Amino acid sequence: SKGIKIAIDGPAAAGKSTIAKMAAEKLGYTYIDTGAMYRALTYKALVRNIDINDGDYLGELLQQTEILLVPLQERQAVIMDGVDVSEAIRSQNVTTNVSTVATHTAVRQLMVEKQRKLSEGTGVVMDGRDIGIAVLPDAELKIFMTASVEERAKRRHIENSKRGISTSLTQLKAEISERDRIDSEREVSPLRRAGDAVLIDTTLMTIEEVAKKISELAEERK
Ligand code: C5P
Repeated sequence: SKGIKIAIDGPAAAGKSTIAKMAAEKLGYTYIDTGAMYRALTYKALVRNIDINDGDYLGELLQQTEILLVPLQERQAVIMDGVDVSEAIRSQNVTTNVSTVATHTAVRQLMVEKQRKLSEGTGVVMDGRDIGIAVLPDAELKIFMTASVEERAKRRHIENSKRGISTSLTQLKAEISERDRIDSEREVSPLRRAGDAVLIDTTLMTIEEVAKKISELAEERK
């Protein structure tokens, strides 16, 4: 069989992408990082000095943008209009502005369309905020992954340190909370747990424990 669809949603820095990547690798499925797509558009808008509150304009900009998620030497690269923006889309400036870009209907409609196309005919693990409800409502397995904001800030802090970026824990906590607030309060597809999603609170779990839990659930539904 070509595989099932797995949707992983949850608040910022809950470990979704780490776990989604591991699950995809184990199952031989495609991993689709939808946050990276919103980040890529945000990066393009910032570079061009475009008003991030102008949803219609951002929608048009997205229409003229090619975003590819390609496996490249052990990692997943994000190629926008032929340029590798994998690093650039993780910048503080993008992180601060991405949730505003993601509030707009015109942007979301087109993103959902692109994401559905990417999942056609193949087993996928897709992570984001609206996957279980809006992008893949028929996914065989839906996970809603959370952790306390303290734990999420702590994990992001460690991850950043490894990448040579120094950020204060307090600042990270504030940034994560603000992103969660905008993502949960927006009108179009706000961050919500789908009724049929399995809730996994990872606050007291290791990565290995979460990965094991998800691969067990995936086996049951294959
Ligand atoms: O997953 P990541 O933290 O990289 O996502 C960045 C931002 O993109 C989120 O905070 C959210 O505003 C937006 N996003 C979204 N819907 C998705 C994925 C991400 O609105 N499916």
